[in-house]
Amino acid sequence: MADKIAKLRIDDSEYDLPVMSPTQGPDVLDIRKLYAQADVFTFDPGFTSTASCESKITYIDGDKGELWYRGYPIEQLAAKSHYLEVCYLLLYGELPTQQQMEDFETRVTRHTMVHEQMHNFFRGFRRDAHPMATLVGVIGAMSAFYHDSTDVNDPWQREVAAIRLIAKVPTIAAMAYKYSIGQPFVYPRNDLDYASNFLHMCFSVPAEKYEVDPALARAMDRIFTLHADHEQNASTSTVRLAGSSGANPFACIAAGIACLWGPAHGGANQACLEMLREIGTVDRIPEYIARAKDKSDPFKLMGFGHRVYKNFDPRAKVMKESADEVLDLLGIKDNPTLQVAKELEKIALEDPYFIEKKLYPNVDFYSGIILEAMGFPTSMFTPIFALSRTVGWVAQWKEMIGDPQNKIGRPRQLYVGNVKRDYKDVADR
Ligand code: SDX
Repeated sequence: MADKIAKLRIDDSEYDLPVMSPTQGPDVLDIRKLYAQADVFTFDPGFTSTASCESKITYIDGDKGELWYRGYPIEQLAAKSHYLEVCYLLLYGELPTQQQMEDFETRVTRHTMVHEQMHNFFRGFRRDAHPMATLVGVIGAMSAFYHDSTDVNDPWQREVAAIRLIAKVPTIAAMAYKYSIGQPFVYPRNDLDYASNFLHMCFSVPAEKYEVDPALARAMDRIFTLHADHEQNASTSTVRLAGSSGANPFACIAAGIACLWGPAHGGANQACLEMLREIGTVDRIPEYIARAKDKSDPFKLMGFGHRVYKNFDPRAKVMKESADEVLDLLGIKDNPTLQVAKELEKIALEDPYFIEKKLYPNVDFYSGIILEAMGFPTSMFTPIFALSRTVGWVAQWKEMIGDPQNKIGRPRQLYVGNVKRDYKDVADR
């Protein structure tokens, strides 16, 4: 609701822009009628100053380094909750009762298998295909199987599609991993919790018994929780834009996965670990800091900086603690990559360039260290981010589809091309 009016003056005309007040965060200028009234567009290519929607799901304060899921701070959820409970919270807005949790867990568990025919999709990929390429392809293909949950106008079908995606993306991600290493697919087990099941599908082999280490499962579960949702980031905005056309949910999530893959976004966890490995030793850090500061060098410090956080990413703090715990648990003493990461963080945070530009470690800075210690190759880091974020994408997609104000997303532009001109025959060019 607007309780204030902002005035916009253009030449000798004045326009009223209603000011909408949030429950938390900056006020919002409602410019929906601006073009019709003033025949002008606003210009914000990276959407830095643009609120693309109304949402109740996730709140971020970039200056304070705060992140809330449905109002609950991420630190509390990481410490006290677990991923499937966080999924319930993000989807339905409240923490579940014991019975609601059991029912939700049963529904998700019962959807973890994929149609047997989907195994054939993998055969079409090269074994060395990046698992993200496989993930985009196979999840997009889910709409070729689950026709009974593709009608976005049917609330029940939206609900079933949401459960199927949350349940099946880990299975497909694990299949992509197994396929890439030439091992047989491992079916999900209904007696395992969500994180244990994923570790089981990735690391067990038919030749011997595999026991999931509960402490590693807990660390895996925490990583899922930390990545579950993050307001209107690039991949979530991609899902919302794809969904605004009425595209089926599987196609929308495949679009989100494709966007997440970029090294400026979810691909940063893989790029960050590869950077830390390239740096190799603490004495080479200054060389890379200098490159990150050199405008003529496209190199950026992977895992550093954020469009919204101008303070520590609260997820990075939790991840850093978890890195110490996991390495300690695995008996990995003085992991050189972790030493380089900690020293790099220390040096960077004392460097005027990073201080002035408010560049802090983000969620991707420490996650790769944990995932590598757990036995994942770097190529599986972003697929793990994608499976964690599936619930966020689905929750945001459901919120958008259920919003009566929802309409197809269709931005305009600042046109700087040629004015109208007549066609020239080739003889006259
Ligand atoms: C994720 O949006 C989300 O919420 C994403 C995410 C989520 O959960 O969905 O949080 C997940 O994508 C985290 C970000 C992962 N990406 C990386 O770690 C890649 C490295 N980071 C950069 O590419 C960059 O910081 C971005 C892409 C994350 C943000 O880019 P912006 O918005 O351009 O950053 P900015 O405007 O704050 O930059 C300010 C200045 C710029 O220099 P000037 O133009 O002022 O001279 O800082 C520079 C930038 O060039 N800068 C960096 C830098 N990040 C920004 N310089 C060196 N190293 C970096 N990492």
